[in-house]
Amino acid sequence: MKAESLPEIQSLPRVVTTPLPVWPAVDEAIIENVVKVLRSESLSQLGKDDQVNCRFERAWAAYCGVNHALSCNGGTAALAMAVGACAGPGDEVIVPTYTWNASALAVVHANAIPVFADIDPGTYTVLPESIERNITSRTRAVITVHLFGHPCDMDAVTQVAKRHGLVVIEDAAQAHGATYKGRRVGSLGDVGCFSHQGSKNLPAGEGGTLVTNDVELFRRCVTVGAHPARQKQELPPELAETHHVGEFCVNYRMQPLAGAILEAGLPRLDERNAVRRRNAMKLYDMLSDVPGIRPAAIAPDVEHVFHHIPFDYRKEEVDGAPRTLWMQIARAKGAPVTAYVGTPLHLRARVQRHEYYGRGCPWECPFALPRTEPGVGHCPNAEYRCAETELSVYGACFWTECDEALAQLAQAFREASELAPRYAAARRA
Ligand SMILES: Cc1ncc(COP(=O)(O)O)c(C=O)c1O
Repeated sequence: MKAESLPEIQSLPRVVTTPLPVWPAVDEAIIENVVKVLRSESLSQLGKDDQVNCRFERAWAAYCGVNHALSCNGGTAALAMAVGACAGPGDEVIVPTYTWNASALAVVHANAIPVFADIDPGTYTVLPESIERNITSRTRAVITVHLFGHPCDMDAVTQVAKRHGLVVIEDAAQAHGATYKGRRVGSLGDVGCFSHQGSKNLPAGEGGTLVTNDVELFRRCVTVGAHPARQKQELPPELAETHHVGEFCVNYRMQPLAGAILEAGLPRLDERNAVRRRNAMKLYDMLSDVPGIRPAAIAPDVEHVFHHIPFDYRKEEVDGAPRTLWMQIARAKGAPVTAYVGTPLHLRARVQRHEYYGRGCPWECPFALPRTEPGVGHCPNAEYRCAETELSVYGACFWTECDEALAQLAQAFREASELAPRYAAARRA
């Protein structure tokens, strides 16, 4: 068959010509609050007081529906405090393999061992059965990641955790304000961890928080990562010795200008998430007849906040055109599509080779169970997603009405699905 003469992919005409909305939105409320804090508050807030970081902690705890919140300098720090509060050398913490690497890195930072679980093929969140399959006598906790803004199946996770006495840590870095059965993420497990890095749905540039209803767990988190001044305020004197109050601790404090941005941003979070949800549903609707592209599943009892808008790529619907080719065409057309995870965490080289601190630590710690890292086939759903179907667009930027940009995005997808089989055939010829 004669090869069709097609232009270079890079020279295809762009169809996304309207800029996507800019996120984060630095509005007047944020600027005013930052200036107010600069003029009137301390630029390093160590203890529990009425300054902005603690004001935000109280507002954030109330929003999430919990009693305690602790601010820190990132989502990784929040997770490291949570893990450090319940696991240590030789202990195992179960983490989904399909997530941003920080979910597992926080375990390594606490000197514990990440053990990887598979995901649900529809929602891409951790599969409760896979958590259970990976439990050993050394498992102390499980990290559930509300990836892309879709809450995990928390009832099922909690049942498994209860049966085995595990602490449930929610990684809600991508899911501020999302709900499961009417309750906000962060309040569903034992402790919830958020990132406020600049791309997130509630951003501060950099920053993090953890939230919990468990006062003992909260105190342990405080002793892992808060300033001794804060430790002395949060822990009664009789716990000073057992909890090592005021001794060695990491500095995970949040910069107060981040607190000022968060304090001003929180009142708009729900309204902006509602717009994100509407925009994601519009995009899914516009793409419903486009071959090769399927929206991700949404569980019936959740409110998704679409930090990313995920899709499944189905190459069998586009004559077997490889996903990488489809993505090249969609990008040339102006659609910022990504394959977010790329390689499942359990197959990453540093995990496979047990290389982080050197000398096999923390995996080969003498307190740990002997362990050979499982390879391909350990998490088949995540491996298949990464190899064949993974596709998403960054969703937090759709915080405002943007019908024209959405229609152009859908058109770029449509044209990529029309062109990809032709390019694939031409390459085969
Ligand atoms: C799922 C997840 N967990 C943890 C983190 C870590 O947050 P940070 O970058 O604030 O340390 C991120 C950040 O991208 C994330 O997406």
